[in-house]
Amino acid sequence: MIEIAIDGTSASGKGTLAKKLSEKYSIPHLDTGLMYRKVASEILKDKGNNLKNILELSCKIARTLNFENLQNKELRTEDTAKIASEIAVFPSLREILNLKQLEFVNKSNEQFGGCVLDGRDIGTKILPNASFKFFIDASIEIRAKRRLLEKNITFLHENDEKCMLQNLIKNMVERDNIDKSRPEAPMVAAKDAYIIDTTAINADELLSIATNIIEGNLTKN
Ligand code: C5P
Repeated sequence: MIEIAIDGTSASGKGTLAKKLSEKYSIPHLDTGLMYRKVASEILKDKGNNLKNILELSCKIARTLNFENLQNKELRTEDTAKIASEIAVFPSLREILNLKQLEFVNKSNEQFGGCVLDGRDIGTKILPNASFKFFIDASIEIRAKRRLLEKNITFLHENDEKCMLQNLIKNMVERDNIDKSRPEAPMVAAKDAYIIDTTAINADELLSIATNIIEGNLTKN
């Protein structure tokens, strides 16, 4: 059985690595960030919601969440990400989503002999005994550039590009700070995680580093 836990900052390359490892080892992948984003996007849709009961509302949405409806473009917006990190501080919401993640883990291990999960607390909380743990990070400038590229904008004036990058950097730094400083399951590298900086490497190089580690060709750092 192979359980792979991948944590790290947004746009660090952790999601792509998770997908590629899932394909390589034929094990299911769960992007746990999408679960927080799904709850956030439902909150955003509910225009009449009273922000006072946001905890209750988040938990209600989380209880009915299933894995089938997580592939939606609207989950990828910056607004959704912002709300996702704000609600991710609630311990009772995390408890509901953690149970769903563990259900996914048990089912995948039983049916496919393993799984790969990516998020913020996978190596520390969800899969503390994972076969391999990775923590992926990169400079904030590179991460913002990657996010901008994902937007697939065909032409951007230089000044607009600068402005968009600055906004992305601001949003990402804010989100990192919330994720790092919350008391419940903060974003932190597990003690036994391999820490990889992707500032100067691409997705294939990251996959090759991770694969070498998994296949025992590198020693633990
Ligand atoms: O990974 P992604 O950027 O899509 O995650 C969105 C937000 O969801 C994160 O900023 C974080 O606040 C929250 N999250 C979390 N724990 C996870 C996955 C995501 O708190 N395991």
